[in-house]
Amino acid sequence: MRHSFLALFNHASSGGLRERLCHTLRQAITSGHLHHQQRLPSSRQLAEDLSLSRVTVEAAYAQLESEGYLERRASRGTYVSIAMPARAATTPVLNSPQFSRRGEQILATGGCQDPPFPHAFAAGSPELRAFPHTQWRRISNSVQRSLGSQVMGYGDPLGFMPLREAVADYLALSRGVRCAAGQVVILTSSQQALQLLALMLLDANDEVWLEEPGYPGARNAFLAAGAHCRAMPLDGEGAIPLEGDARLVYLTPGHHYPTGTAMSLTRRLQWLDWARQHQSWLIEDDYDSEFHYDDRPIPTLQGLENHSRVICLGTFSKTLFPSLRLAWMVVPPALVDAVGRARSILDGHSALLPQAITAEFLQQGHFASHLRLMRQLYHSRRDRLLEQINTRLQPWLTPLQASGGLQLTVSLHQGEEAQLTQQASEIGLLLPRLSPLYTSSQSQPGWLLGFAALTPGEIVSACDKLVTLLSRYAQTTR
Ligand SMILES: Cc1ncc(COP(=O)(O)O)c(C=O)c1O
Repeated sequence: MRHSFLALFNHASSGGLRERLCHTLRQAITSGHLHHQQRLPSSRQLAEDLSLSRVTVEAAYAQLESEGYLERRASRGTYVSIAMPARAATTPVLNSPQFSRRGEQILATGGCQDPPFPHAFAAGSPELRAFPHTQWRRISNSVQRSLGSQVMGYGDPLGFMPLREAVADYLALSRGVRCAAGQVVILTSSQQALQLLALMLLDANDEVWLEEPGYPGARNAFLAAGAHCRAMPLDGEGAIPLEGDARLVYLTPGHHYPTGTAMSLTRRLQWLDWARQHQSWLIEDDYDSEFHYDDRPIPTLQGLENHSRVICLGTFSKTLFPSLRLAWMVVPPALVDAVGRARSILDGHSALLPQAITAEFLQQGHFASHLRLMRQLYHSRRDRLLEQINTRLQPWLTPLQASGGLQLTVSLHQGEEAQLTQQASEIGLLLPRLSPLYTSSQSQPGWLLGFAALTPGEIVSACDKLVTLLSRYAQTTR
């Protein structure tokens, strides 16, 4: 036993001597090298064997006695006081854990993938290299100075009130949203908003309708909740209601994801009427309305009438930066308390300091200036990409609606989408595919080419690669 102790003790490398000895003894007991009621060497003996001081061994024995591993019997010695349950000769490796039905539903979605940054043509990335770091840092310092410990405790699950007020003002002015600050809920992401709504409003097998093609993050949140998702077709006016009933409908009326169509006023009124008649919820994902380049964005569906059944949401991931982890959701007054209680059992609330900094950033007008600058920047980058497509990428690609957003959706007329995407990734080009955004067999090949996070030079050199790839492909398949 003394030899094995010595070996084990020498391998227990981290921590002080007493902690190392405790660790060695715990391991020897839990692995069965020392068994129940086995007597340990006296502290003097063990100190000699391990070249330690007797005080260290005494301290380790006392520590393990207080933890329940050892028992010290007056003038009779120190004994192992716990019996480890008998183990099979070999412990099987846990390589296929059993999940709940909900767990299996979550895994079946494949999860959500966030875009790498900056990487041509990752979709949905804002330009982070032009972020006003100096202003942000200044506000961060002054918020920490003025609020101090007020932003270090637990916060309201619905969000930090000054941010809720600033978001309500911003949404009323620039998106025509009708709400009081009390209806604004601050969350970590649009994804969390969708998850929270699925949790509170859906039972397993409830019907949810989504646009086709559509945003996979929303579909995944509803599938994970066990909902039955049905695809709605689109025409030039937006999503068309299906026959029957849905508990919840997910829409991107401002700028359909990913084709860019704006929903007409007639169709918006039709949806509001439909939701009233069917007592259903409409989720309006206002994900990129800040970035419209040709016309002013159409005000929200939520703002069209009072007391509507619309829940409107949006994110700071695109307007500020994704790792900020802040998004907003505007809910009808009747849902506010329920959403707050549900949030309290998810993750409590969003971190207070970033909320306080963001509130100040909005209130001092920096958010509006940042958006103005980014709109100009993205506008010129959108134009550069369009020009490249129109002059160099014919007849392969046709841009769909390109009036806004951080990416340009193109349809692919020649070549196999999956194969080309694979070949592109081998030369370092990311081409987010369009066809997986359809769930029916009607899928269209194409790509969502992110441009906002790329400088004009980066756009041109990514297009060089794409031209080479498509020309080579055309030659080999001729
Ligand atoms: C339609 C849509 N909604 C929401 C999001 C993401 O928002 P968040 O990062 O807050 O989950 C995206 C991201 O690309 C999106 O395309």
